[in-house]
Amino acid sequence: MKKTVIYAAAFALAVGMGFSANGIAADKGPAELTLQATVDAAAKAKPATFNHAKHQEKLACGECHHSKDAAGKKVAYVDGQKIQKCESCHNKAAGMTNEKLATFKDAAHTNCKGCHAEKAPEVDAKKCNGCHK
Ligand code: HEC
Ligand code: HEC
Ligand code: HEC
Ligand code: HEC
Repeated sequence: MKKTVIYAAAFALAVGMGFSANGIAADKGPAELTLQATVDAAAKAKPATFNHAKHQEKLACGECHHSKDAAGKKVAYVDGQKIQKCESCHNKAAGMTNEKLATFKDAAHTNCKGCHAEKAPEVDAKKCNGCHK
C-alpha cells in the first residue's frame, strides 16, 4: 500500500514535470565522450576527450547539466530532467543572453575550467592538451 502511494507520487511528479514515469532512473549517457562543436565550430576542429563516467563517480549531474524554461532562463538540474546536448542551447542562434556562453566552446570552457581551477588544477595545468589531445 505504502509502495503504491510512493509510486503514485513519483508518477505525478514525473508527469507534472513533463517527463515519462520510466525516466525516474536517470539515463547516465555514454561513459566516454569525444566532444566536438558542430554548430559554431572553429575553422580547425579541436575535439575534447571527456571521461563522463569518471566525472559521474564524484560529481552531481547538476554540476554540468541543467535546462531552460520558456523564457530562456536556466532551470537547475533535477533527477529525471531531459538532458540535451550543451550545444542545443549554447549556440549563437539560440538567443543566449550572455554572450560569453554563446558557443559550445564558451559554455564548456566556463564549466570545465571553472571547476578544475577549484577541484583539479593539475588537469588544466597541462594546458590545452589536458582535454584537446
Ligand atoms: C578542461 C578541458 C579543456 C581545456 C583545458 C581546454 N579546452 Fe578547449 N574545449 C573544451 C571543450 C569541452 C570544448 C567544446 C567541444 C569542442 O572541442 O568543440 C572546447 C572547444 C574549444 C575550441 C573550439 C573547437 C571547435 O572544434 O570548434 C577551441 C578553439 C578551443 N577549445 C581551444 C582551446 C585552447 C586554445 C585551450 C588552451 C588554452 C583549451 N581549449 C583548453 C575543453 C577544454
Ligand atoms: C562534469 C560534467 C558532467 C557531469 C557531472 C555529468 N555529465 Fe552528463 N554529460 C556531460 C557532457 C559534457 C555531455 C555531452 C553533452 C554534449 O554532447 O553536448 C554529457 C552527456 C550526457 C548524456 C547524453 C546526452 C545526449 O543527448 O547526448 C546523458 C544522458 C547524461 N550526460 C547524463 C548524466 C547524468 C544522469 C549524470 C549524473 C549521474 C551526468 N550526466 C553527470 C557532462 C557531465
Ligand atoms: C536547455 C538549454 C541548455 C542546455 C542543454 C545547457 N545549457 Fe548551459 N545554460 C543555459 C541557460 C539558459 C543558461 C543561463 C545563461 C545566462 O545566464 O544568460 C546556462 C548557463 C550555463 C553556464 C553559466 C554558469 C551557470 O551554471 O549558470 C555554463 C557554464 C553552462 N550553461 C554550461 C553548459 C554545459 C557544459 C552544458 C552541457 C553539459 C549546458 N550548459 C547545457 C541553457 C542550457
Ligand atoms: C564540477 C567539477 C568538474 C567539471 C565541471 C569538469 N571536471 Fe574534469 N575533472 C574534475 C575532477 C575533480 C577531476 C580529477 C578526477 C580524478 O583525477 O580523479 C577531473 C579530471 C579531468 C580530466 C583528467 C582525468 C581524466 O578524466 O582523464 C579531464 C581530461 C577532464 N577532467 C576533462 C573535463 C572536461 C572536458 C569537462 C567539461 C566538459 C570537465 N572535465 C568538467 C572535475 C570537473
